Amino acid sequence: MKIPVLRLEYSEEEIRAIQAGIKDVLKSGYLTMGTKVAEFEKAFATFTGARYAVATNSGTSSLEIILRAIGVDGRTVVVPSNTMMASPVAVVHAGGKVIFADCDKENLQLDPKDLKKKLRADTRAVMLVHIGGIISPSFQEIKEICDKNRIILIEDAAHAHGATIGGKQAGTLGLAGSFSFYPTKPLVTAEGGMVTTEDEGIYRKAVSLRDHGRAPDDPNNHVELGYNWRFSELHAVLGIQQMKKAKAILTERRKIAAWYDKKLDGVKGIRKLYLPAKVKPSYYKYIVFLDDNIDREMIKKILKEKYSVSLTSEVYSHPCHKQPAFKKYPGTVANDPADTFPQTEYVAAKHICLPVYPGLTEPEVDYVVDSLKKVLSE
Ligand SMILES: Cc1ncc(COP(=O)(O)O)c(C=O)c1O
Repeated sequence: MKIPVLRLEYSEEEIRAIQAGIKDVLKSGYLTMGTKVAEFEKAFATFTGARYAVATNSGTSSLEIILRAIGVDGRTVVVPSNTMMASPVAVVHAGGKVIFADCDKENLQLDPKDLKKKLRADTRAVMLVHIGGIISPSFQEIKEICDKNRIILIEDAAHAHGATIGGKQAGTLGLAGSFSFYPTKPLVTAEGGMVTTEDEGIYRKAVSLRDHGRAPDDPNNHVELGYNWRFSELHAVLGIQQMKKAKAILTERRKIAAWYDKKLDGVKGIRKLYLPAKVKPSYYKYIVFLDDNIDREMIKKILKEKYSVSLTSEVYSHPCHKQPAFKKYPGTVANDPADTFPQTEYVAAKHICLPVYPGLTEPEVDYVVDSLKKVLSE
């Protein structure tokens, strides 16, 4: 058996529907920002329950749009160090400075205790990143910390399409949420992003920033320092197709995760992640901790070479606070030099991500688990 890092599942019927959508676009005379983009935005807003959804060309641009819309210029934004570089770098590009915070090593998400220590008088926002598609079980506490200190909570929900906490959807938990549709994500459009918000002011600014800061009623009048962050009609065709099966994709990811939950019970050398019932992940990743004495790189190498099982990349193996780019530009980070990130460093070194994507069968999951057991016992 061979288990690749990713399979993209498109049935013949779906391919025909996409081809028909592309034909519509070609005949419409609009290759970008037309009716398909509007249809995708509407479907995504309905899916998350957000009032507004604004499609962009990446999950990086949707983040930067939110940061520019709330105004972080000359201010600080708290970001977990355990995230993809796009999260803190968006703060820098929007004119802010990053304050890195540690994560909770039990669930990989922002640690509220460390967050409290990191807030400063000039802190404008906290970026909650739903790592691996998990909404922090401490979300309520984090929200209360933000509210009490009059700090804006925003979400980097790049991994978290359809994830919920207490029934509330990712993308509706803070002032605005940002999604990515990169091919590994739960919903994909090749490249693409989305801003979700309830707030009309943020919505209007996002629409303007996405298209060179144009005024809504006068396209030759530029009222913001925007950019070309537009979304194409062709990508929107892929988005519309994904929205038709978004619920089914989530159900399937959760079914595969439940198989792992059961089959990994009692396996020696690993520890499963335990989340309270109120947290329903998107299962962008299925995360497992390795015991302290186990070398992750060795496990990955043997799984791939001997058993043809490719594990997916970690979330994350290289904490942002250690990235050379921030050493090169130290003025972009506002942390105290004495700050430490012990939980982030533990997580970075000690977890693996098992394959999880629609189409993965139960016998394949059995094969992954059996192969892992063999490698761990070798
Ligand atoms: C947490 C996080 N934020 C933001 C992004 C950026 O998304 P994109 O690649 O669509 O620009 C990613 C992409 O992997 C991500 O993982």
